Amino acid sequence: MPRQFFVGGNFKSNGTVDNIKAIVDNLNKSQLNPEVEVVISPPALYLLLTASLIRPEVKVAAQNIFDRGNGAFTGEISAQQLADAKIPWVILGHSERRSIFRESSEFIASKTKAALEAGLSVILCCGESLEEREKGITLEVVTGQLQAVANVVKDWSKIVVAYEPVWAIGTGKVATTQQAQEAHKGIREWMKKAVGEKAAEETRILYGGSVTEKNSGELAKQEDVDGFLVGGASLKPAFVDIINSAA
Ligand code: G3P
Repeated sequence: MPRQFFVGGNFKSNGTVDNIKAIVDNLNKSQLNPEVEVVISPPALYLLLTASLIRPEVKVAAQNIFDRGNGAFTGEISAQQLADAKIPWVILGHSERRSIFRESSEFIASKTKAALEAGLSVILCCGESLEEREKGITLEVVTGQLQAVANVVKDWSKIVVAYEPVWAIGTGKVATTQQAQEAHKGIREWMKKAVGEKAAEETRILYGGSVTEKNSGELAKQEDVDGFLVGGASLKPAFVDIINSAA
């Protein structure tokens, strides 16, 4: 069975009530390819507003959770709270969380487990730095990040993997189609051994890093590119063109 194309919009810490309403309005009135699964991820403050306004076939994702449930964790949101608020997705392991907030792969794995146990679906990010790419250890780094999750999560049916090379995020420097395909294929091969043949075949692997409506068409043609996780361009009307660029 072919993997359903998936496009996520990660707004990061951007937006106001007014411009999030405008983004949602644009998505609501645009023609979106019905074959594509679309998930948008506004800052936590705007999750419920977004969920209340967006067309039902577009789903909403949080950008983070804490892994320990409800309790004395000031400033955090639990997986259970997202489930209670009917926010079905969460992005975990984004490189900004790994680098700025020093999140380890083990912590991200624990959050992934907590999210899945609460019934959420997860966009699980991984990616190498420029230095790591230049050293030729891209796959080692990326599969190491994913292995931490494979150690504690056996069922990957509610996980979508996002390969986001750090050097391509917000830089305007997109991976070449060949670089993206090579990394995605490597991830799928790793997955075969570490998680299982079925998971390797069925898991969507998204590319993220300076995706725009200009480069999405070519990237989407790559065999192992099953969609995108879009940052900056998801705040713009051209996000619709990226959604509709599925091969
Ligand atoms: O999660 C999406 C991401 O990090 C890519 O950001 O702005 O390069 O599309 P951007």
